Amino acid sequence: MDAVKVGLLGLGTVGGGAVTVLKRNAEEITRRAGRGIQVTHAAARDLDKPRNCDTTGITLTTDPNEVVNDPDVQIVVELIGGDTLACDMVKKAIANGKHVVTANKALIAKYGNEIFAAAQERGVMVAFEAAVAGGIPIIKAIREGLAGNQIQWLAGIINGTGNFILTEMRDKGRDFADVLTEAQELGYAEADPTFDVEGIDAAHKLTILASIAFGIPLQFEATYTEGISNITREDVAYAEELGYRIKHLGLARQSDKGIELRVHPTLIPERRLIANVDGVMNAVLVMGDAVGPTLYYGAGAGAEPTASAVVADIIDVVRVLTSDPENRVPHLAFQPQSLSNVPVLDMAEVETAYYLRMLAEDKPGVLADVTRILGDRGISIEAIIQKEPQPGSDKANIIMLTHRILEQNMNQAIVDIETLSAISGKVTRIRVETLNAD
Ligand code: HSE
Repeated sequence: MDAVKVGLLGLGTVGGGAVTVLKRNAEEITRRAGRGIQVTHAAARDLDKPRNCDTTGITLTTDPNEVVNDPDVQIVVELIGGDTLACDMVKKAIANGKHVVTANKALIAKYGNEIFAAAQERGVMVAFEAAVAGGIPIIKAIREGLAGNQIQWLAGIINGTGNFILTEMRDKGRDFADVLTEAQELGYAEADPTFDVEGIDAAHKLTILASIAFGIPLQFEATYTEGISNITREDVAYAEELGYRIKHLGLARQSDKGIELRVHPTLIPERRLIANVDGVMNAVLVMGDAVGPTLYYGAGAGAEPTASAVVADIIDVVRVLTSDPENRVPHLAFQPQSLSNVPVLDMAEVETAYYLRMLAEDKPGVLADVTRILGDRGISIEAIIQKEPQPGSDKANIIMLTHRILEQNMNQAIVDIETLSAISGKVTRIRVETLNAD
């Protein structure tokens, strides 16, 4: 049988990695797929740019339309990134009857619902394993490996850049900006690094994971998103003193009231495996009712780890090229007509525990005022530390851990605490999750 012909949109870090892996592992890939796989056509913005791959035998163009309109190309691999040109090209490829493989989380999180509907109608597949957690096959694990479970919740470190920054701040006491520059130089950060630092990249990925876990349409706009730019070295150190690590987590949980979908810095007990996932590594903890907790760990970015997922998707598509579209694994794990309309909860309706830090005048009655405000809102304190004022200052840092409470109660309590004359500035609030198996 002839080799399946693949067209690439984008020949940057991941595109080059995919070409290299397909060539290097051609023999095993052919044995797995049942047919050879050949990249025949590729579009790149600048053809003179040095490449991290051998492009011999590939027709190169600067016009992605040539690839999606090439009648010989059966699978289009979209690695352009962003959600404008990439979206147009993916829609054109689908309209032309081509299968699509993409690593583009923004595209799937924002336009996945319409893209999958178009693909369904045209009888083609859109595979997107590389969109979440790079080389970790987390989409396949949830969609197929855990298909017998009710997924109760999942929590993931799904942005390598953010995790690298928090790890360096903790281990080496480095400054935020300095570490971010290094992550950019290492090629992990997004083109716009605010996507990493402000949690947008993680929110794209969480949106996708939640849909696959719970069978809900993709709802990026409903995902609560908070980044790590306000985390200080002090908070990292105080968390450690209390037995916790601060991680930037994406959390999705099914509760009686609806679905929690939230990305924010989170204190996790340091004894949890996921609390010890450091540097640019990613990890996703998934709780299924039958299987219990399962943890998936690996490289979340980089040329070949991401290419690993892209190539696996290409192989998957090749394996089912001739199968009846009705009998394929559904894009979002659940049959499209069976997606549920369970609401995504507003953050105010979410219940969690909290780490609070405030700068207080070191005088009688201040702590009593703070604890009265918390008590009035039904907020119970689990632990409390007061630090001695710095030399020459009469203000002390008070750090508290609370029990679980509705976010709206905490919001009101924080407003009240900040109005106390003995409290300076804003109260720092970081959510706490124990990630227990129950
Ligand atoms: N900027 C992303 C990260 C790359 O740091 O994890 C992979 O999506």
